[in-house]
Amino acid sequence: MPFRRRPALVATATGAVALAILAGPSLAVAAPGNPGSPRYSAGADGAGDPYFPLAGNGGIDVLHYDLDLDYTPPEPAPAPLEGELQGIATIDLVATQDLDRFNLDLRGLTATEVVVNGKPMSFDQVENELVITPRPKLKTGSHAQVIVTYGGTTTRPTDIEGALYGWVTTRDGAMVVSEPDGSATWFPVNDHPTDKSTYTFEITVPQGLVAVANGLPSADPTTAGGFTTWYWDAPDPMAAYLATASVGDYVVNEYVAANGTPIFDAVDPARLGAPSAALALTSDMLVFFEERYGSYPFNSYGAIVDDDSVGYALETQTRSFFSRTAGEGTVAHELAHQWMGDHVSPERWADIWLNEGWATYSTWMWNEHRDRATAQESFDEILAIPADDEFWASEVADPGPLGLFTDPVYDRGAATLHALRVEIGDAAFFELAKTWVERYGGGTASTEDFMALAEEVSGQQLDTLFKVWLSTPSKPTTW
Ligand code: ARG
Ligand code: ZN
Repeated sequence: MPFRRRPALVATATGAVALAILAGPSLAVAAPGNPGSPRYSAGADGAGDPYFPLAGNGGIDVLHYDLDLDYTPPEPAPAPLEGELQGIATIDLVATQDLDRFNLDLRGLTATEVVVNGKPMSFDQVENELVITPRPKLKTGSHAQVIVTYGGTTTRPTDIEGALYGWVTTRDGAMVVSEPDGSATWFPVNDHPTDKSTYTFEITVPQGLVAVANGLPSADPTTAGGFTTWYWDAPDPMAAYLATASVGDYVVNEYVAANGTPIFDAVDPARLGAPSAALALTSDMLVFFEERYGSYPFNSYGAIVDDDSVGYALETQTRSFFSRTAGEGTVAHELAHQWMGDHVSPERWADIWLNEGWATYSTWMWNEHRDRATAQESFDEILAIPADDEFWASEVADPGPLGLFTDPVYDRGAATLHALRVEIGDAAFFELAKTWVERYGGGTASTEDFMALAEEVSGQQLDTLFKVWLSTPSKPTTW
């Protein structure tokens, strides 16, 4: 008995829904062990994250994205700052419920064809959702190959704060940085960290430009008819916001770091002098963070430094992005994110302090290593902020969608980790860090998971410390 089309997961008092409720705990789950009587419904239009309700989708688990992109940057000024992107996304996914419909996120680009398992399907685009109606319908656990042909004019998209993100068109290419939900501006995607996938890329750009994505080159670039195609393979599972395919007039520097990790840096020649001193510390930093967090989790690393700016850096997986400069503290921060944020990713966006607190604390430790301020001194500086300062007025473990990248998430997040370290001691603290990466690496974890693991590893009761530091909107005094 198939469902009528309806917004997924919205129960109404119809016989069909009542049946489904009897059959299992959730409409999102098909009757287990009963493949003969599927209960088809639509996948939800969001992954269920309260901060970004339409980010990601229900009912699908994407295993792999193969992105074949053709990009032409803008003509020289005074032509408008707009590029042309044509893409073919080949998406291997598994249905996690019996689906008669499912969504991908796609924003500002137009899909012209959708093929599921070799057959053209009907589809629709409603605001930032691409709605696909697979026939035959997809049973729970079945694999599907979805090929979306799409494209359009690229601009300079912004997030809910008004910050540039996604496929940001530049005069000589594009800066592609998508935290938290900007991937939909360049490919059809299940845009939530709870769905990690492997990626391959084939990016064709005018000859003379370099297209840099995640992972390692899988073949030498090929040039024909004035266009060069760059091939990338990113086999480590990755959250969509960490994917990049930046295009520019980059100078490439490839070498192997002291820990054996292959490095691929791409630096805009206009920035070559500026960041090189800090980037040259990458090898030492890899060794430093491996000692604290365990083996570097991915197949490669490197930096993209662009001469245009989105106003921040991003820990794009295996290939951190820097706007104009790559200062030493930021180079350490983005590298540490590869363990803390990229390998272990936030379960919900409310857990962002686990990314930013760890990355900030990593720079504190690196600074101490370099004989600058000790971590304790950095902590003392935070504690010197007056109690009536707005800094203390937010809940770090629930900063709200507009608070994701605010100072308390970074600095009070880092101070929380230092307070924890002092409380449980260095041995337990670094065992916690390593166990965290080992246990949750490749997936996501929440603040609750972190608190539980800290108690497990230390054998201490830490309710008060976490409550005072993470979920009390005032300055901690005792904990
Ligand atoms: N996660 C990035 C970093 O810490 C910052 C991203 C900021 N994004 C933004 N939209 N403001 O390095
Ligand atoms: Zn960060």
